[in-house]
Amino acid sequence: MAFKKIGAYLVEGQTCDQQAIQAAVEKQTTLGHEGIYKPIGQIIVENGDLTPSVLHSILQKQGEDLLRSVELFKNLPQELIEKICGVAEYQAFPKDKTIIHQGDQADSFYQIISGSARVFRVSDDGVNVTLNTLEPGDSFGEMALLTGEPRSASVKTQEACGLLVISKEAFDKLASEIPEFSLALSKILSSRLNRGGVELVHASATEKAYQRFISKQSYGIEPKLIGRSRVVKQLQDEIKAAAKNDRAVLILGESGTEKSDVAGLIHWKSKRKEGPFLSVDVQTVSLGRSVDRPRKHDPIRLELAQSSALFGHAKGTLSFAPERRLGLFQIGDGGTVVLENVEHLTKSVQTKLVDYIQHGQFKPIGEQTSIHSSIRIIVTSSVDLNQEVLDGRFNKHLFEILGGSHTLTVPPLRNRKKDLRQLAEHLVEYHSRQTAKSIVGIDLSVYKSIMAYDWPGNTDELSAVIRRAVNLAQSNRLTPEDILIGTAPRGTDRLSFNLLKVDRIRRLFQSSAFPNSAQLATAFFFVLIVYLGFFGTQTPDNNVSLELTWGLWEPLVILSCILAARIWCAVCPVGASSSLISHKYGLNRNVPSFIRNYGGYLAVAGLGAIFWSEVVFNMPFSPRATAILILSITVPAVMLALVYRRRVWCRFLCPLGKLVGFLSRCSILELRANQNICNNDCMENSCYVGSEYQAGCPVFEAPFVLHNNQDCILCGNCVKNCANQVPVLNLRVPGQELWTFRKPDLTMAFLVSIIMGTQFFRGLEKTDYFHKYTAAQNQEWIFYSVIFVLSTSFAFLFIKTAGKVIFGSVKTSSRVTPNLLAYALVPMVVIFELSFHFERLISRGGQFFPTLGRQLGVDWDFLMVSMSPWWITFHQIAFILVGVFASRAVLKNILRLHEDPSKLRLSFRHQWPLLLLAAVYIYLFWAG
Ligand code: CMP
Repeated sequence: MAFKKIGAYLVEGQTCDQQAIQAAVEKQTTLGHEGIYKPIGQIIVENGDLTPSVLHSILQKQGEDLLRSVELFKNLPQELIEKICGVAEYQAFPKDKTIIHQGDQADSFYQIISGSARVFRVSDDGVNVTLNTLEPGDSFGEMALLTGEPRSASVKTQEACGLLVISKEAFDKLASEIPEFSLALSKILSSRLNRGGVELVHASATEKAYQRFISKQSYGIEPKLIGRSRVVKQLQDEIKAAAKNDRAVLILGESGTEKSDVAGLIHWKSKRKEGPFLSVDVQTVSLGRSVDRPRKHDPIRLELAQSSALFGHAKGTLSFAPERRLGLFQIGDGGTVVLENVEHLTKSVQTKLVDYIQHGQFKPIGEQTSIHSSIRIIVTSSVDLNQEVLDGRFNKHLFEILGGSHTLTVPPLRNRKKDLRQLAEHLVEYHSRQTAKSIVGIDLSVYKSIMAYDWPGNTDELSAVIRRAVNLAQSNRLTPEDILIGTAPRGTDRLSFNLLKVDRIRRLFQSSAFPNSAQLATAFFFVLIVYLGFFGTQTPDNNVSLELTWGLWEPLVILSCILAARIWCAVCPVGASSSLISHKYGLNRNVPSFIRNYGGYLAVAGLGAIFWSEVVFNMPFSPRATAILILSITVPAVMLALVYRRRVWCRFLCPLGKLVGFLSRCSILELRANQNICNNDCMENSCYVGSEYQAGCPVFEAPFVLHNNQDCILCGNCVKNCANQVPVLNLRVPGQELWTFRKPDLTMAFLVSIIMGTQFFRGLEKTDYFHKYTAAQNQEWIFYSVIFVLSTSFAFLFIKTAGKVIFGSVKTSSRVTPNLLAYALVPMVVIFELSFHFERLISRGGQFFPTLGRQLGVDWDFLMVSMSPWWITFHQIAFILVGVFASRAVLKNILRLHEDPSKLRLSFRHQWPLLLLAAVYIYLFWAG
């Protein structure tokens, strides 16, 4: 820009001759060599060629001329320019002087008169990123003053600079008294926000917060709607039509769909393209510096926060946000403002919005005068607004205005699977660019798993999964190892308490002794059991390995599943040895997709085989069979560990792991993560990949994909690795995970059938009829096998038939809906298992000392623990009744999720399977 130097003013006004100026320039150069910077005017005054008051008036004139020539002030009347110059102070800065430090509190606003300065930011990982170079006419330092946040960046002179400095107090005064000044600032602000995604990656936390506050997505480049499906083409036509005029737009669609991109495209294609594009999520709107988000149940605060975000507030009107704040409707003048999740606007803000749409003016909170602005309003929602109106929660008038213009619906991802491949490719390319990686391909099996999933979190979820995959990728292709797909847990407001908040528990999970020392102890017992099984006596009453296994270990493991989920697997010596072997001698190959895809079925089949051999070989009374069982689990685990990475056996194939995971579904404990932090702030993924000191997740999971207890083994590696302390160990009301799934899993139906079938068998085995029939058989094991297969098949048929009756009216795939019943039956089946083993704990576990005594040749019979059979049966029946109620509650919630909740009433049609099963279980206990 044309900038008149001070010398020119002095010569023009004949206040000083050319020679004096020349002498001053030379002195300035000499001083510069010594590292001292002095402005020319000051040197001339020091040389006695000019009085300070004359210099002051010349600087004032220079400042005024400059202000008139810069964008920010050029349209202001003369008296305002004078007023601003009156509160501004001219200051000179040498080369390489940092004027603003990122993170500091704001005290001034700067206008560059001469020289140039660099705006840069140091990212969290220490990278110094230049954001811009500022020249005469540019200004800086307004962001922190307007938002109350700390400085978003540092500013350092590149050469000696002359600046007009306006103090915070003067700035606030100008901003509140001169609307044109505020508007001009708003324009600068929004142009700074309209930057491309690359820089946003490096944005400081302050600016990120600031971005969230006023502009979740500002487009420096044209947003894209990816896909060639019919629905996407139709949407593109609708976008074009909406961009042709200025009317309000309503965009509907499930959360996570590309509603913001659609809004961005409408803006981009409209004549407002050059204006600001700002968007705010009205549900989580922030109040600025001192307060983060309004608390959920504080409607007054929410209302103030929303009003202030949209319309702004005057200084001192809100006690919790004392600084003045500009509203979006002021900042976005000439552009587009998007209000996300509009249904969350409070009633009175809805009324104000109607008023603004109709009259184009508004009053900030605490201001007397109205402000005019021209904004195109786009609102988004993921609920049925019509219903909201009928329920009296949404302003009818506002709905009519919005619905009367353009209404666009963005389809969920599961209804446009045709677009998934293109979308995935686009996201891989985008995230590779962002992370400076060169991922060039995606394995076919990755596409398969992307296609097989329903993406309840829509494009946002897909983007998070791909961002993470790109991040994790070791080569230039994405493999199934990199893709961690999981359903975002719903209903995070559950009643729960994070045990990791308790210092001792956190320390335990973080200590290196956990779970190693416990693994040593369990390994000792396993070795003892195997030794006694092969080398000890085969007389059941004299071999303590049986009491240890069936009387203590098995019931206690089952109890531990209820109390502490899969924690047994964390201390299991089989898992520990496979980890050790894989680490020391393993080939560390990737897990083949066959194991990934079908491992679950194999594990269920293995469990069936264990249950079968348990009854056929009467394992609880055979020390050798018991030892063989333990070896049959250990040997494949170790062999697989030699070939594949991590604990592939524990994660995909271990039958006992499958059982323990199943029982843990009803646990009062869960390990989960705050997905928002994982998806937005974490780049290391150390929970999954591990760190220098600690291995990553041994079972190919990560806390952010966990939505049930089936796979996490509570080993604590993620707790040790995560620098953000994201994993939480919740004490919870059990059950929720049994209905918050989208698609019933077929393995669950098989698993429940096999466990339930075994339970029927165990019950039958105790009846007199059973004994009569077995006595008549020559080959007992054939009879046992037939009954075992029959009872398991019966359980499977029961689930299918009863499931069809209960869920007949649910409108999803008829092949899978009956399996929903399997989930409802889980509590009953788990409680049966618990009651059954309760009896074993007393009857077999109670024999531990007497048996040990017999083995050691001493009489410890007096140490026997027992309970009257009546008492045991009484407890078992009481357990089952609790199970009925728990299963009923789960059933109700599953139905609620799949049927209209308002019409739902549990009738006999829904409940008979539970009652029938309870009757059978009670009979079996009774008969036993
Ligand atoms: P503030 O956050 O108060 O302090 C640092 C200043 O750097 C900031 O205000 C803006 O004035 C300026 N700034 C931040 N980002 C940019 C950018 N991308 N381009 C130009 N100036 C910027």
